[in-house]
Amino acid sequence: MLTIESPAAMAEWARRARTDGLTIAFVPTMGYLHDGHLSLMREARRRGDRLVVSIFVNPLQFGEGEDLDTYPRDPEGDAAKCREVGADVLFLPSKATMYPAGFQTTLVAGPLADALCGASRPGHFDGVLTVVLKLFQVVKPQVAAFGRKDFQQFAVLSRMVRDLDLDVEMLGLPIVREADGLAMSSRNAYLSAEQRAQALALSRSLRGAEAAFAAGERSADTLRAAIRAGIEAQPLARVDYVEILDAEDLVAPADPVDRPAVAAVAVFFGKTRLIDNVVLTP
Ligand code: PAJ
Repeated sequence: MLTIESPAAMAEWARRARTDGLTIAFVPTMGYLHDGHLSLMREARRRGDRLVVSIFVNPLQFGEGEDLDTYPRDPEGDAAKCREVGADVLFLPSKATMYPAGFQTTLVAGPLADALCGASRPGHFDGVLTVVLKLFQVVKPQVAAFGRKDFQQFAVLSRMVRDLDLDVEMLGLPIVREADGLAMSSRNAYLSAEQRAQALALSRSLRGAEAAFAAGERSADTLRAAIRAGIEAQPLARVDYVEILDAEDLVAPADPVDRPAVAAVAVFFGKTRLIDNVVLTP
């Protein structure tokens, strides 16, 4: 596995791979890799001749008072995991090379970013779009893999690919969970044992909504209230949002729900913000 730090060297490697007729598959991450990331890498590995993984904690997508400075890091563990999965290149750009002095051009997300995390974290998706477009330009992938855990992120990025005519196939892959149901996240590392136990309420209440939906419940209000009650029963949980939205355009769904909808939650445990979701398909 090659480790490349400079975007210029990464771009040169990618140009050569493309000239050789190879398909580049790409998994962008912020590191502290877990099985969710590794599942993307394994699938991407199957979809391309070469696998590039990037680790870059992107300052542009963090807001005031968020966890940019404390975001967990494990460079050696991450490199070992990438090697195990068979990554060909680990791309580790620095903040200074991604955003050199004078940097000023950014993308602006459209209405898909209005709800959910876009509403709670102003500017977040502008930062995600900007960094992913920059990474695509440098890595030049034909295929890129993302997790559905960040449901809105995948929607906003897929929209960017269509809107800006990017020649990248977008793979949206299933949420990987711990054995007890908690969605894997680098941020789970912040949780105390007590918070970790109560955080199970996210996946449990979403599963409850899934079961109710399967049993015929079609009122978004009823489903939303049941999820909220399940989470608020945990004394350490502070709900950021509990929403049920049309899975396609992320606006209020028809009532009764008659097309695929996403039930999505964001919940604080102390300063740690966790997200999870489930898609409800009639
Ligand atoms: P990060 O949170 O490191 O996630 C990298 C990728 O892993 C994303 O596509 C995310 O959806 C996926 N992922 C995280 N947890 C997952 C899980 N439990 N199951 C399946 N996939 C999971 O998302 C980002 O980084 C950044 O915003 C990034 C796209 C790299 C831009 O900076």
